[in-house]
Amino acid sequence: MKIIFATQNKGKAIEVKNIFKNSKYEIITLSDLNNEIEIEETGTTFIENAYIKAKTIFDIYQLPVIADDSGLVVEQLNGKPGVYSARYAGENCSFDDNNKKLINELKNFPEPHLAHFICLSVYIDKNNFFHSVGELHGKIVLTPRGVNGFGYDPIFQPDGYDKTLAELSLEEKNKISHRAQSFNKLKHNIEEFIL
Ligand code: IMP
Repeated sequence: MKIIFATQNKGKAIEVKNIFKNSKYEIITLSDLNNEIEIEETGTTFIENAYIKAKTIFDIYQLPVIADDSGLVVEQLNGKPGVYSARYAGENCSFDDNNKKLINELKNFPEPHLAHFICLSVYIDKNNFFHSVGELHGKIVLTPRGVNGFGYDPIFQPDGYDKTLAELSLEEKNKISHRAQSFNKLKHNIEEFIL
């Protein structure tokens, strides 16, 4: 069965394809479909934004769709960047711009800079809607380390690790990440309820 993953984020696409790789589902992304649509995230919550992405793509293709909305919640910044994680340093900013902005904002706060990632994933088809949540707790480090992954990975060190997410392999990140937890539960629901 084909499921479209409604994302333009290559890092997410690699992670989620890896999660579904030994299942009977074939995950195809918007780039596999040569679709360059940029879906506006007009919601104010993770679930709203995940649903907007999934529904927009479902309306185009009428095929089962998965989508997620995710972000980083930093305690000392009262939950920022939260749902605005992708564009924290402004529209069309790079991952590096976001990391620099966050480091700059945190440098006058005492350590540890406690934070967690959240991933809200959804599945929709013409009859069903499931959602699932995953969280990964840790702290922000003010000197980026590692080259793997994407986004805030070089400055996020998960609890129990002395490496940042960008210093872990894809397999290691996928054992613990918010996205892996969320999509593994979602996959379980799809396997149980969808023929
Ligand atoms: P969105 O879910 O596409 O709205 O984007 C979420 C943003 O949160 C990404 O662009 C990253 O900046 C950040 N983010 C979400 N998940 C991760 C992750 O696993 N590693 C690093 N950054 C992440």
